[in-house]
Amino acid sequence: MAFDLPKLPYDYAALEPYIDTQTMQLHHDKHHAAYVNNLNAAIEGTAFASLPIDQVIARLNEVPEEKRTAVRNNGGGHLNHSDFWVTMTPGGSKEPTGELANAINTKFGSFDAFKSAFNDAGVKRFGSGWVWLVLDKSGNLAITSTANQDNPITDGQTAILGNDVWEHAYYLKYQNRRPEYLGAWWNVVNWDVVGQRYAKARG
Ligand SMILES: [Fe+2]
Repeated sequence: MAFDLPKLPYDYAALEPYIDTQTMQLHHDKHHAAYVNNLNAAIEGTAFASLPIDQVIARLNEVPEEKRTAVRNNGGGHLNHSDFWVTMTPGGSKEPTGELANAINTKFGSFDAFKSAFNDAGVKRFGSGWVWLVLDKSGNLAITSTANQDNPITDGQTAILGNDVWEHAYYLKYQNRRPEYLGAWWNVVNWDVVGQRYAKARG
C-alpha cells in the first residue's frame, strides 16, 4: 500500500495574508508531493510500507540500513507536513483552551511567554528544520527543534505542534525574515486540533 498526498483541508488562499497562496501551492503540491513519491520509492517492498507513517518514523532504526536515510528524510517530510496542514486553519480558536492552556501556563508562565520561547527556538534552528511543542518522555510539555525533516517521535517525544522553518515555507513572502514569519504564523494555528493532539498524547 502506497502512501498518499493528503488534500489540504482548506483552499490554497485560505491562510492569506499570513501564508501566501503561491507558497501553499508549491509547498503542498511540489514539496510534500515529492516527499511522498520518494518515500514510496524507498519503502516499497519492505514491511514498513503498510505501517502508519508515524510508526515508520518511530521505528526508523529498524528500517533496512540502505533505505533508512531516504525514509528518514522523505517519511519525515510526509509525517511533518501532514500534521502541519491540519494544525493550521483560517478559523478556529486563536489561543489554546482547557487543559492545554493550563499546561502551557504552568510550564511557560503565560501564552505569550510560550510563543516567545517557541519563536526563539525557531529562529535559532540553523538551516532547515522544524520547531516543536512536544510532550516529552516524562509527559511534560517542552519546546524543541529538529534538523531537516526529523520528527521528535524518533526520540520518543510526541509532537503536539510544529512549525516548518525551511526557507520553502516562507521565503517567497518573507524572504530572509524568518522571525516575521514565525510571528505571523500564530494567526493561523488551529488550537482546536492542537488541543485534541495534546489530549490524545496524554492518553
Ligand atoms: Fe515544508
